[in-house]
Amino acid sequence: MATAPIVTIDGPSGSGKGTVSRAVARFASWHRLDSGALYRLVAIAGQDRGLAPDDVKRHAQAALTMEVSFLEEAQEDERVLLEGRDVTAELRSESAGAGASRVAAWPEVRQALLERQQSFARPPGLVADGRDMGTVVFPQAELKIFLTASPEERALRRYKQLKDKGSGVSLAALSREIAERDARDSTRAVAPLKAAPDAHVIDSTGLAIEEVVGRVLALGRSRSLWP
Ligand code: DC
Repeated sequence: MATAPIVTIDGPSGSGKGTVSRAVARFASWHRLDSGALYRLVAIAGQDRGLAPDDVKRHAQAALTMEVSFLEEAQEDERVLLEGRDVTAELRSESAGAGASRVAAWPEVRQALLERQQSFARPPGLVADGRDMGTVVFPQAELKIFLTASPEERALRRYKQLKDKGSGVSLAALSREIAERDARDSTRAVAPLKAAPDAHVIDSTGLAIEEVVGRVLALGRSRSLWP
């Protein structure tokens, strides 16, 4: 399987794992896997193919066959193509997130995405973020981080992000959505959101992103993953 060192960063929605993993990948000049994007892409591909929202089999098929390119990985302005179509903006929408959380509860879809995710492990190394990177997809990872933050802080972060993009979404609606998504992601039967026993838990509530990145870099340094 993997011939490259792997760092996994798991955590709930809005915990900052995307920003942190991007910063760590950039520091180390490693590849990055945004596994949440793959689940979002399955939901979008399902819509594009006109699938019924509860058609598990065809969504799993889409997970296996969809053609995806991540352009300029580890860049702030990375673009994502699905079957050649630029879906970058659609991917970050709350509706794609909700769709992703739904299809992610189906074991068939998770299984279909497993090898695709593992194929991202290439030299010189991989930073993978998601919900089950350290528990299921890369249990052999050299360093596992579980990033949390209070639900209030996570809702506020998402709110600011979306507001910056000109979205008119309300904080109350986002808080509700985050609570629902947390509940669904943590209670599903397959690969629920939980820290691997050997993960370092970092609570980022009240911490600046640079502090969190600094802690992860220090942990990696102590394992000689980078200078
Ligand atoms: O991290 P995100 O918000 O882009 O993830 C979207 C959804 O995908 C999230 O609600 C749960 C699911 N997901 C998952 O089940 N396993 C992963 N490794 C990543 C995401």
